[in-house]
Amino acid sequence: MRAKLIVGNWKMNGSRAGNARLLADIAAGLDSARAQCAVCVPSPYLQQCEEALSGTPIAWGAQDVSVHGFGAFTGEVCAKMLSEFACRYVIVGHSERRAYHMESSEMVAQKAKAVLAEGMTPIVCVGETLEEREAGQTAQVVGAQLDAVLELLGTADVAKIVVAYEPVWAIGTGKNATPEMAQAVHAHLRAQLKARNAEAAESVPILYGGSMKPENAKALLAQPDIDGGLIGGAALKAQDFLGIIHSA
Ligand code: 13P
Repeated sequence: MRAKLIVGNWKMNGSRAGNARLLADIAAGLDSARAQCAVCVPSPYLQQCEEALSGTPIAWGAQDVSVHGFGAFTGEVCAKMLSEFACRYVIVGHSERRAYHMESSEMVAQKAKAVLAEGMTPIVCVGETLEEREAGQTAQVVGAQLDAVLELLGTADVAKIVVAYEPVWAIGTGKNATPEMAQAVHAHLRAQLKARNAEAAESVPILYGGSMKPENAKALLAQPDIDGGLIGGAALKAQDFLGIIHSA
């Protein structure tokens, strides 16, 4: 039985004062939660997370990483730097990075590898656009995105990743995939993992992301292959984030 994992992706939101309140409120409301949880924050706030969350059940992480190590790469942040702030997770291949920063699946794979090399867990995001879904290409698109990562990682490393299915048309739109739609894609992703490493496929969490809210979380999380959520907007309000965590 896979434990549920709920991860907040703050995207480019936050302020020192606001973060302090949000993190304190989440920590205070976690008492009876069974799910594991984490927040992935803008890199400048990692130190604040480390200070505020050490000793709590909440893990933290980053939203992106460079494919490079240290060097002349202005504006980039390498995996070793993130590990210095005790990040457990690093999101790689979010659709906003693929779309606005032209990240290819090969680049996403290199990022996942860089994260693993520093002992952290990559949350590998995959997802189709509305056009791709309407053209019946969902399985093919997410399959190719995941395969690029699995090709680069060794068989043993498959067990060390988290996958997140985030249909692009559901992100920030208020339109979530139905539990059945999401389950179908999750099952497909799980089968793909199984083909690489059957044992790992049973333990790798596959999260759903895209307008997950307290109102729809329970039905989504009840699906056999939906192991948690990657939460955008609802992760910025303690009550909503806690509502999702408590539905898990
Ligand atoms: P929303 O929950 O705001 O739709 O965002 C989902 C997402 O992109 C998480 O990474």
